[in-house]
Amino acid sequence: MNMNIPDDKVRIRQAKLTDIRQIANYLSMLSDATKKRFAPHAFDEATLGSLLSSEKVMLFVAMLQPENEVIAYSIVQKGSLEHDQPRLQSYGISLDPTDCTLAPSVADEWQSRGIGTLIHQFVVKEIKNLGFKRIILWGGVQASNIPAVRFYQKHQYHLLGEFHYNGLNYDMILEL
Ligand SMILES: CC(C)(COP(=O)(O)OP(=O)(O)OC[C@H]1O[C@@H](n2cnc3c(N)ncnc32)[C@H](O)[C@@H]1OP(=O)(O)O)[C@@H](O)C(=O)NCCC(=O)NCCS
Repeated sequence: MNMNIPDDKVRIRQAKLTDIRQIANYLSMLSDATKKRFAPHAFDEATLGSLLSSEKVMLFVAMLQPENEVIAYSIVQKGSLEHDQPRLQSYGISLDPTDCTLAPSVADEWQSRGIGTLIHQFVVKEIKNLGFKRIILWGGVQASNIPAVRFYQKHQYHLLGEFHYNGLNYDMILEL
């Protein structure tokens, strides 16, 4: 595994409307392999603009210093995804407004170097302060995506259940 990046080389914060171009550029540079695993929404600037103006979602970025280049991006939706609700409820959990739903990503050349952990810690702190009590994975995680499954296990997510969509997927949840 590559060396982890020092904390002072990365700035993590909630994204702003002025970050649209940088985030769109980051998303456009993701490899096809990463895009197959991370596709919570369309990657164009108009979509990012409406997400950044929405009350329902929060976007977070990790920026390399001093370049201010986006190297990781996560989206959090308040509550659960309507599309995922029947499946999540089939596991016997009751969904709640204190749930939120997360999709994280790190630029290909920066994966496995601790950035995902840094942005995840930041997101957890922010959403806990807002009163959220659980994080559900956005559309689950593909069972074949071993780095991500290990990532979630390392951060204390537990398995809710399994489903088939383009292969086996796991629904996982973190109690905050
Ligand atoms: C999943 C993802 C967000 C993790 O972020 P990251 O910066 O790569 O992860 P970190 O370097 O912080 O690693 C934390 C833990 O994740 C696991 N992990 C990360 N990379 C791994 C790899 N290549 N192989 C196995 N486990 C890995 C390990 O448990 C690691 O802990 P360790 O360093 O003590 O071994 C990132 O790899 C990514 O964007 N992947 C592509 C998109 C994606 O899959 N998004 C999630 C969709 S559900």
